[in-house]
Order: sequence, then structure tokens, then C-alpha cells
Amino acid sequence: MALRESSLNGKSMITTQELSRDEIMEIIELAEDMQENRFADKYSKVLDQRSFLMFFYNPSVRTRQSFEIAATELGGHGLYIEPGSMRLQQLDKPPEEQGGETIEDVAGVMNRYGAGVGIRMLEDKIDRYGRGDEVLREYDKYLDKPLVSFAHDRFHPCQGLADVMGYRKHVGKDLEDVTIAHVWGHGALARSHCSVQESMLISSRLGMNVRVAHPEGYDLDEEVVEWTKENCKENGGSFDIDHDPVDVYEDADIVYSRNWMSRDAYQDGEFKKEEEIEKALKYTDWICDEEKMKLTDDGLFSHPMPVDRRHEATDEVASGPRSIILDIAENRLHVQKAYMALSMG
Ligand code: CP
Repeated sequence: MALRESSLNGKSMITTQELSRDEIMEIIELAEDMQENRFADKYSKVLDQRSFLMFFYNPSVRTRQSFEIAATELGGHGLYIEPGSMRLQQLDKPPEEQGGETIEDVAGVMNRYGAGVGIRMLEDKIDRYGRGDEVLREYDKYLDKPLVSFAHDRFHPCQGLADVMGYRKHVGKDLEDVTIAHVWGHGALARSHCSVQESMLISSRLGMNVRVAHPEGYDLDEEVVEWTKENCKENGGSFDIDHDPVDVYEDADIVYSRNWMSRDAYQDGEFKKEEEIEKALKYTDWICDEEKMKLTDDGLFSHPMPVDRRHEATDEVASGPRSIILDIAENRLHVQKAYMALSMG
């Protein structure tokens, strides 16, 4: 496979919902070739001498490593930037108290240095749900280079792409009519909604049957739910939301377990992490275990990681023969290389 001119050239990726289905498939198919020919000459100079600016407001294992390595393997360099090392506006404060350098100025400077920019902004770095998405879009407004979300409060596009690349390997290239069950987990980490929401969106774009189960009070973004329903209608899949921790497993092909925070997580501009964890830990039925996995159609276990073992899933499931979590983590590298090559190369 050779690199061609692409509609993704210069295009940002804040969610896969804003890409066409052809663009999604272009990234995944190129990623599959990049996995097969990981160090081939044809890919080793795509970002020759160019730098990708990696901007992490929150910590990361997979995203940081995979993006930095992606830049290296494409012949460029990934530059890790910690917001604490800059004099930025304090975005979790009201405008009159923010001080610091504006997004307009920081983005303007980044335009002069980098081939592209990535930003992670999660949970405790924002004062309300939706703020992270607004900040990314403000950066994007001032950037003339592609911006990619490294995971923010609403979306995690690279995770969604890596997930479906994993399903294509383990279930088959055609995902139409494959059933994915997203199940809330009673984790101790008070996670953002980004991974599960991205998974719902991209799965429904590819014709999968999408199920979601969570306790009352843990509703997802209404707009994302609406988009998922519309995607299902357009692409032939079905969509169901339920509040039962067991029924959702029935005959599923893939189980996607994940904790996410409740609708009350932000109060008076503050992320109530401890209260969220205390509340979530009471739902002990909401764990993905072998008993529940037996209800599936020999289902695969999927999770974006880090897995909160013994809360979201048991060790037997997370490390079991049907777990594909490490393949999916590896796919992060390939899909990100593919996106960078098509958008920044
Ligand atoms: N899945 C994921 O984004 O992992 P990290 O938080 O470690 O980057």
C-alpha cells in the first residue's frame, strides 16, 4: 500500500464522528498495512525531520508512548509538553481570573514549530463536562496544523480506531451485525466518558449492534446517544440502553467494560472525585466476570486500559484467552501512525 493524497490531509481529529466512513476505513486499512510492514522504508521518512507537539494536561501510559513512538517510526520526533512547564491560562477558572498566555497565542506559536498537535484534557483539569471539548476546539480554531485529541472529556478518537482494528482482526473484516455490549464497571478511578462514547460512535458507523448498560444516574452524553442511534439507522445496526448488569451480555460478540463518572461528578465547578469513587464502589454487581462472559457468544473482552482489575473486570477475564486488550493497546501505535501520515505527512 502506497501513501496517496487524502482528504485527511491537514484535517484535525477530535472525534471519529467528524470523519467520513471512507476516512475511517482509510486510516484503519493503512494501519493494518503499517502493522504488517512496521519498519518498511515506505513509511520511515513520512515525517522526516518534523516534530509533533504532544500536550498532556493529564497522565498517560499508552497515549504518550504510542504517539512518541509513532513519530519516531515515521522518521520524525514527538515532543512531550507538560502544561505545568508553561505559563498558560488556568482554564478551570472564570475568564477574569485565568491570567497567563492565551490559547490564541500558544496555538499561534505551535503553528510555527510543529507538523501537528495532540492534546489530552480529562476529569480534574476541567470544571464541568464539555469544557475539555470546548478547549480543544478553541486550539483547533487557531491552529493551522492538524489537532488530534489524546482523549478529552467527550471523545477518544484514537482509542475508537484501535478498538475496531482489533475487532477486525479477531472477529473478521466485516463488522456488520456484530454485537458489542458496553457495560459500566464499578471502578475506583472515576473515569471520563470519552472511551465508551467514542466506541459507541465508531461501532455504530461500521454497522455493529450497539448495547449499553449502566446503573441509573450514569447516563451518557445525550447528543452522543442520539448520534449513535442515527448511525445505527444509517448503517443497519441496532441500539439498546438498559440498566441491568447481566442481560446486556446475552449472546454478545464483544464485551467492552469501562467505568465512567455519574452525571453529578461536577458540582459548583469542582470535580468530586472522592464522592464519585465512594458511590461507584457500592455497585458491586457491575463487574465483568467469567459467569457473565459465559452468557455471551464466546465473546471477546475489550477494554481501552488501564483496567481497574477486580472492579471493572476480574483477573480471569482481563488476562483470559478471550481478552484482546493488549492487541488493542498495540493498535494505538498503528492507527496513530496512519492518521499522522495521512494528515501531517
Ligand atoms: N487508553 C488510554 O488512553 O490509555 P492512557 O490513559 O494510558 O493513555
